[in-house]
This record gives sequence, C-alpha cells and structure tokens, in this order.
Amino acid sequence: MSAINGNTTVVGVIGDPISHTRSPAMHNAAIRSLGLNWVYVPFHVTPENLPSAVAGFRASGVRGINATIPHKEALIPLVDKMSPEAEFVGAINTLVFEEDGRIYGDNTDARGFLRAMEEVGFPSPKGSKVVVMGAGGASRAVVAALARAGASEIVVANRTASKAHRLADELSDRMGVTACGCGLDSAGLLKAAEGSALLVNTTSAGMHTHDALSLPDELFAPTMRVYDIIYAPPETPLLRQAANRGCQTLNGLGMLVHQGAIALELWSGKTAPVEVMRDALIESLA
Ligand code: ATR
Repeated sequence: MSAINGNTTVVGVIGDPISHTRSPAMHNAAIRSLGLNWVYVPFHVTPENLPSAVAGFRASGVRGINATIPHKEALIPLVDKMSPEAEFVGAINTLVFEEDGRIYGDNTDARGFLRAMEEVGFPSPKGSKVVVMGAGGASRAVVAALARAGASEIVVANRTASKAHRLADELSDRMGVTACGCGLDSAGLLKAAEGSALLVNTTSAGMHTHDALSLPDELFAPTMRVYDIIYAPPETPLLRQAANRGCQTLNGLGMLVHQGAIALELWSGKTAPVEVMRDALIESLA
C-alpha cells in the first residue's frame, strides 16, 4: 500500500461485529492495482452509534462506506437519496458521501448478483421465468435485481410459505412484475420450476453439513441454470445435485466480488479490477 499522507482518501466498512470482514483485503488490493492514494478501513460501529458515525464520516471527508450486519436497514433514514434497488430491498450496503454533502445509499448486492451471472454466460433473465428460494433480506435483493432485469415471472419459494406470498405480492405491486409465492415442498417447487430458466437459492440452507435442502432430482431440468448465493462452501449440496443432473451452476463468490466492485466504481468513477478483487478475496477466505 502506498504510504498514507495528507491527501489519502478514506473508504471503509462498518459492522458489529466487524473483525471477520474480508472487504478490506478485496478493496485494498483493488486500490493498489488502480494506483489510488486511498485506504479502505474496517470500523466497528455499534447500532446506537450509527447516526453519529455516519455524520462523522460525512464531516471528515470519508468518500464511501460499505455496511454489513446489523446496519443495512438502519441506514435508510440516514441518507438523503437512494437507488430504486435499495428502496425495494429496504437495505443499504453502500454509502456515497457526495461533494455537496448529500449522502447517497445504494444496494450493490442486487446489481452484483446480475453481473456475476453475466460474467459466466448465464442468459439474461429478460423475458424468462425464474424461481427464487428464500424470502428474507438476501432474497429481496435478488428478486429486485431480477425484476429490474426484466424477468417475465418470478416465483418466490420459501419454507414459510406466507412470507413467500407476501414478498411476491410486494414485487408485483411495487415493481410491476408477475410474481407468485409457494412453499418449499416438492410438489410446489416442481410446479414452480416448470419452464423456468433459472433457480436461485438465497436461503442459508447448505452452508452447514446438516442443513441441506432436500429437493427432488426431477426439479433440475438440464437446461435450467442453478445459482446459489452461498460462497462457502463453494459447492453446496444444491449445486452438486444440480451439476449431477447436467445443469450449469454458479456459487455466490462472483456476487460478493461484484457488489464490492460496483461500490468501488460508485466511489471512484473507475472500472474496478474485478480479477484482482476476486484473487484477494479467495486468498483471504483460504
Ligand atoms: P438473509 O438476509 O440471509 O436472507 P433472513 O432474512 O434471516 O436472512 O432469511 C433467511 C431465509 O432463509 C428465509 O427465507 C428462511 O426461511 P423462513 O422464512 O421459512 O425462515 C430461509 N431458511 C433458513 N434456513 C433454512 C432451512 N434450513 N431450510 C429452508 N429455508 C431456510
């Protein structure tokens, strides 16, 4: 890293806890590669200190901040304007402190999800039916991205079916996309997946050895792409099952890299060095 001096620009990430974050490794590698006189710093901010921390960042000329658990929702009332994705998701993961003092909030998870798909050659969701498993915060980012990308129909499938119905209703009301909800039972899923181009998992099931989703093999038509936003382990039982059925698969590492790349681009106006960021992230996960 170049020496910090009087002209160094500060960006960073807030969370509680924060010590687990991989973002500094990824962003500082990108900063070095771009030759910027910047530094990306982790900040441990507790919920009660969030408003004063944000005001302090603005007052100190910090350029941008990423937010992780538990701050993403609580940032909403603290910004002056936000992207449509952040508005629909109800969560902000990136703050931009603009020169006129205004604070812009974005949710780069949504566009990061799409860019990672494009990168591996998954077809655009435009005009396609897609199935998204899960109805929590991560699902909101994914369905918002798919709706904005022009998916023709979104089926939200969730263990608690009532939450799937609620999210689907909200999607059709607020984003004007055809959407419906169902449970995660085999019958519901098989019907949902008929003619579907893409199946996405946004639930945490599959992160640990004991909690894999139990899905019927017939769900996986070989032409359907299967995208799990989990990145550790790199191959969840869902992705293994899909690959065994001949489906093209994708894990969540690319989404993590691209949400960071988009944040860096918002702050710097430069194209992010995606490969550098990916290598640094993989190294930090090892
Ligand atoms: P996140 O922000 O990561 O989406 P969340 O808002 O807590 O986290 O949502 C977790 C999602 O994972 C929910 O859709 C949850 O299903 P329920 O609404 O039925 O709780 C889903 N989920 C978590 N563990 C799961 C499991 N073992 N099987 C199926 N779904 C699971």
